Amino acid sequence: MIDIEKIRAETPGINFSTHLLACGSSLMPQSVVDVILEHTQLEALMGGYEAEEKKIDELNKVYETVAEHIGAKSHEIALMENSTVAWSHAFYALPLKSGSRILTSEAEYAANYVAFLQRAKRDNLKIDIVPSDQNGTLDINVLEDMIDESVGLIAISWIPTNGGLVNPAEKVGQVAKKYNIPYLLDACQAAGQMSINVKKIECDFLSATGRKFLRGPRGTGFLYIKEKWLDTIEPVMIDHFGAPWVEKNVYELRQDARRFETWENSYALRAGLGEAINYAEKIGIDLIHERVQLLAGENRKLLSEIKKVQIRDIGMEQCGIISFSIEEKHNPKNIVNQMSDAGFAIGLVDPESTLIDSEKRNLPTLLRMAPHYYNTVDEIEKAVKQLSLLL
Ligand SMILES: Cc1ncc(COP(=O)(O)O)c(C=O)c1O
Repeated sequence: MIDIEKIRAETPGINFSTHLLACGSSLMPQSVVDVILEHTQLEALMGGYEAEEKKIDELNKVYETVAEHIGAKSHEIALMENSTVAWSHAFYALPLKSGSRILTSEAEYAANYVAFLQRAKRDNLKIDIVPSDQNGTLDINVLEDMIDESVGLIAISWIPTNGGLVNPAEKVGQVAKKYNIPYLLDACQAAGQMSINVKKIECDFLSATGRKFLRGPRGTGFLYIKEKWLDTIEPVMIDHFGAPWVEKNVYELRQDARRFETWENSYALRAGLGEAINYAEKIGIDLIHERVQLLAGENRKLLSEIKKVQIRDIGMEQCGIISFSIEEKHNPKNIVNQMSDAGFAIGLVDPESTLIDSEKRNLPTLLRMAPHYYNTVDEIEKAVKQLSLLL
């Protein structure tokens, strides 16, 4: 059982507002803030390089922490400043022959899709969208049917930014493995709300962010690169950290995934990310998932009882993000502002964030609510009540 009272006591943000937007950026536990402040303070007292040296063992441990959290090995992890940078590093480094096809999901995130478009233009690639089944989930059978020798990459979002859908990441991994196709998984919205095991998923690359369900600081993320790629994959951009300059005309790539990193970093934030993952692990990711499911289910049910609200979540399995639209006469941004004035943090998602899905389903700007395990049913009831008064 999660000790909610304790967790709430360790989360100062709950006293400021009722925060229901973990899919945007969630509330950090105090211990995460403490670790960041402590390292920053040390930098102020000793100097940044000296603080790094003093804390090097703890800082190196963050790689193990991330790796253990997702079932990887620490040399398969690179720490990054966000999910997009992590994802892009893997995507742009992958050699894809002219004429190859990228298979992706309808729910793909804008940052990923514009990168597909850029490489499609530059490297003569084709982007093929795997249709969803009647529930809105990526259709695994169709995915398999679409495979031939021209497919160079499968890259999908496990959970999209615009709602509750959970795509079948593991089943996609089975198909990718069967046909020996590289598989890049965007786990940005999954990390911290459900268990991740890269061995079970069988992905080659996985990207995630710190600030969302993981409750880490902004400006953090990570990239997993399966060991086998470390023999061959070369980052598009390198510096002398990722690729030491060993002779006048020679550089040597690091052996580990940190070849994608650069020399300068925010060590305070990295320490904060490590603490956020430790904090989640202490609670237990399965318990977190169970509670997020419970709260999201309640949130979805209460919203669906408001006539002027239309729930827009699709998929058989649904997660902690609840998306909904309201009557056209209301401006969603004004509603978010009015909710904020009343002490409730909820959010918006524009159609452009997931354009393929938004066009297919003719979605307007949606409102999003995403409770985390530190929220309570009482908070959700009050938030939904407040919303109903505004509509
Ligand atoms: C599905 C998905 N992928 C990637 C990202 C990008 O994450 P970041 O802002 O950390 O780069 C987001 C952010 O909302 C997202 O929802």
